[in-house]
Amino acid sequence: MTLHRSLVFFFLFLSCFALSSWALPLCSDSRAPLEVNSTLSFCPYKGKTCCDTMEDSNLNKQFQAMNISDKGCASIVKSILCAKCDPFSSDLFRDNSDQQSVPILCNSTSSANSTKDFCSETWETCQNVSISGSLFAASLQGRVGAPANNNASKLADLWQSKTDFCSSFGGASSNETVCFSGEPVTLNDTTPDKPPPGLCLEKIGNGSYLNMVPHPDGSNRAFFSTQPGIVFLAGLPDQDSGGVLDVDPSSPFVDLTDEVHFDTEFGMMGMAFHPKFAQNGRFFASFNCDKSKWPGCTGRCSCNSDVNCDPSKLTPDSGSQPCQFQTVIAEYTTNGTSSDPSKAKNAKPTEVRRIFTMGLPFTSHHAGQILFGPSDGYLYFMMGDGGGGADPYNFAQNKKSLLGKIMRLDVDNIPSASEISKMGLWGNYSIPKDNPFREDKELEPEIWAVGLRNPWRCSFDSSRPSYFMCADVGQDTYEEVDLITKGGNYGWRVYEGPDLFHPESSPGGKTSAKSVNSIFPVMGYNHSEVDSSGKSASITGGYFYRSETDPCIAGMYLYADLYGNGVWAGIETPANSGNFVSNRTTFSCAGDSPMKCSDSPGSTGLTLGYIFSFGEDNNKDIYLLTSNGVYRVVRPSRCNLTCSKENTTAARRNPSPSSSPSSSASSCYRHMNGFHGSSVVLLVSLSLILLVLLV
Ligand SMILES: *[C@@H]1O[C@H](CO)[C@@H](O)[C@H](O)[C@H]1NC(C)=O
Ligand SMILES: *[C@@H]1O[C@H](CO)[C@@H](O)[C@H](O)[C@H]1NC(C)=O
Ligand SMILES: *[C@@H]1O[C@H](CO)[C@@H](O)[C@H](O)[C@H]1NC(C)=O
Ligand SMILES: *[C@@H]1O[C@H](CO)[C@@H](O)[C@H](O)[C@H]1NC(C)=O
Ligand SMILES: *[C@@H]1O[C@H](CO)[C@@H](O)[C@H](O)[C@H]1NC(C)=O
Ligand SMILES: *[C@@H]1O[C@H](CO)[C@@H](O)[C@H](O)[C@H]1NC(C)=O
Ligand SMILES: *[C@@H]1O[C@H](CO)[C@@H](O)[C@H](O)[C@H]1NC(C)=O
Ligand SMILES: *[C@@H]1O[C@H](CO)[C@@H](O)[C@H](O)[C@H]1NC(C)=O
Ligand SMILES: *[C@@H]1O[C@H](CO)[C@@H](O)[C@H](O)[C@H]1NC(C)=O
Ligand SMILES: *[C@@H]1O[C@H](CO)[C@@H](O)[C@H](O)[C@H]1NC(C)=O
Ligand SMILES: *[C@@H]1O[C@H](CO)[C@@H](O)[C@H](O)[C@H]1NC(C)=O
Ligand SMILES: *[C@@H]1O[C@H](CO)[C@@H](O)[C@H](O)[C@H]1NC(C)=O
Repeated sequence: MTLHRSLVFFFLFLSCFALSSWALPLCSDSRAPLEVNSTLSFCPYKGKTCCDTMEDSNLNKQFQAMNISDKGCASIVKSILCAKCDPFSSDLFRDNSDQQSVPILCNSTSSANSTKDFCSETWETCQNVSISGSLFAASLQGRVGAPANNNASKLADLWQSKTDFCSSFGGASSNETVCFSGEPVTLNDTTPDKPPPGLCLEKIGNGSYLNMVPHPDGSNRAFFSTQPGIVFLAGLPDQDSGGVLDVDPSSPFVDLTDEVHFDTEFGMMGMAFHPKFAQNGRFFASFNCDKSKWPGCTGRCSCNSDVNCDPSKLTPDSGSQPCQFQTVIAEYTTNGTSSDPSKAKNAKPTEVRRIFTMGLPFTSHHAGQILFGPSDGYLYFMMGDGGGGADPYNFAQNKKSLLGKIMRLDVDNIPSASEISKMGLWGNYSIPKDNPFREDKELEPEIWAVGLRNPWRCSFDSSRPSYFMCADVGQDTYEEVDLITKGGNYGWRVYEGPDLFHPESSPGGKTSAKSVNSIFPVMGYNHSEVDSSGKSASITGGYFYRSETDPCIAGMYLYADLYGNGVWAGIETPANSGNFVSNRTTFSCAGDSPMKCSDSPGSTGLTLGYIFSFGEDNNKDIYLLTSNGVYRVVRPSRCNLTCSKENTTAARRNPSPSSSPSSSASSCYRHMNGFHGSSVVLLVSLSLILLVLLV
């Protein structure tokens, strides 16, 4: 059985991106399409579709009620109604609220020759045809001044001209957006990228960290946190500069070690900076605490009667008292240490507010990463099944439990204490309006996705925020990467990866495979692929590579095995399909790495140790946070790897001052050798803990 561990990281500065980019099969309610095994009886969809048979039959009724006499127009209207079932309906209906009934119709604006002018075709075919309860009534499209009567009408009664009609319903397809041309959306048949020739890494720091978060002000700096609970602010060297992390180990950004309970699978698991950190100075830590040692460590126990769990029956594995260990999200501020958060070099370890506290049933699998969603600004909180081996209480499938879930919290609108208690919340946050289970009293409203075992490192694609990837650590056989969608069920403990899982015991009840609509992993690996004994495997999720540094891995999703058994590059094919092929890739150390990659004397090989986590900086360059230090992906030619797309003329520059907007911040880091002294002790203790994990 593989155990997993600790901690987090990042992501905030993307709110200015084009967030509607056409990507990923998603329904207009933001959920993943269902897989149906036969063609729907009314709409021409099969395989992945956003309609079940009930919705299909409702669309049929709606169509019959329109009573369209003209065959050509009827056929067009039917296709438009059925666009709701398209697996890309989220993109097709992107421009409007829930009310929108017409997808974006392809019009002649498109420069892409391939797109037909379906909007004109619709107008020309239907303009004189009477349609009852017309879909095209102006009021539905939010126009003022148009006739409110949407009973039986012709397009020509509602719209003055084709131009009038198409300026309201039309739109073009591009790589950023997709429009409806009368037929199910098809993907371009792209030639899949070749697997990369290998990854070239340089070593730029000795510290052992669990989380890296780029500075939200966009500068060339990042926060790094350790499992015991210390956060450092480091300057990042430019690519090709020969520089290393610019960090002062004697001057942490904040030190939370007094509150954090640090042990094998405990510690500071995550940190997140508010998207507006540069203005409001708000930041958040996710960590574990021990209630026998700290009075601030008191939350409701996640093992309770709501979820068929009796805390007095928990095994001794759970600590000396029920829910002795807890998971906490706490908020901090740079106010008080700096008037400008971008210039803050440190912050007080004084909690401004407790966001969340929950007692844990056992001593493992509690994930703990926190991330702000790049398009919604809400805080996503990853939570494992709580441990105990094979999720004995079936928490991950129990929607009254927050274990084995991804949660989504609004930390910008904090309700009153009475409201919090009325709603039975676990702290100071509110529930976003469109959380999937908000209206269902039988379910915990915090939940965004269910059926996770121990989500170990999630990330949002920095180019396509709808791609929310989470690696989920497996039990006995399979390590998986999931594409997380609203309300999705990722299968655990009914499935482990793609296979049915058979728990030995289940005091908390069972969930049948028939009763779940499990979403299967998009990538992963079998334990047998990396370790013949099948034991030492545990996935660490990474990022879509969006840097220009190594063009041969552009757009690929990188992930690794915690035990250093491999690094994989996942290629999506076709583009925007959500289907991936992943291949293990080699990695080596740049000949000119500023720090030696290997600690073994005489060895030139690269020994990464444990790969705890990945990080991404503001230039989209990718880092590996390992027990041996901090590594960064660099140009392939620095490892003598051939990538024909690489710009090999890029000159090696001398170390230059960081491009931080805050000159005082860059001038204060002049310790070019990474970690010394106490940090070495820290490193040793982390490694010891991992050895314990292995046996
Ligand atoms: C889907 O396939 C399963 C088994 O292959 C079958 O039992 C079921 O009836 C099918 N469902 C539909 C809607 O055709
Ligand atoms: C359908 O339209 C026809 C004429 O086109 C009309 O005679 C009939 O009453 C309509 N049916 C309904 C249900 O509106
Ligand atoms: C553009 O459209 C014309 C006419 O429909 C067609 O002949 C031509 O092949 C198209 N070009 C491309 C590149 O699709
Ligand atoms: C619809 O009516 C308009 C105006 O009466 C006429 O010009 C047009 O040709 C008609 N279109 C069709 C397809 O009948
Ligand atoms: C439109 O339909 C509603 C009922 O659906 C009816 O009350 C109303 O009178 C109709 N209006 C016209 C102009 O036919
Ligand atoms: C096509 O759609 C766009 C977006 O709605 C609109 O601005 C434009 O006017 C339309 N073009 C034509 C020719 O109708
Ligand atoms: C499909 O490929 C064409 C030509 O390369 C391009 O213009 C178009 O934007 C692509 N469509 C999508 C949906 O990616
Ligand atoms: C979309 O296409 C434009 C120009 O065709 C290109 O500059 C841009 O990088 C593309 N965006 C994506 C996400 O591929
Ligand atoms: C910190 O300062 C900012 C800007 O003045 C303010 O908006 C915020 O409320 C302050 N936070 C705390 C915890 O006082
Ligand atoms: C990559 O993996 C796929 C299957 O996952 C396999 O078909 C393909 O041959 C692999 N490519 C290489 C170059 O190893
Ligand atoms: C790359 O090749 C050069 C010349 O053959 C050699 O000197 C250098 O050591 C090689 N570097 C690496 C990292 O293999
Ligand atoms: C390659 O890099 C060099 C140095 O950074 C730059 O001057 C040049 O424009 C780049 N060439 C291309 C094709 O990007």
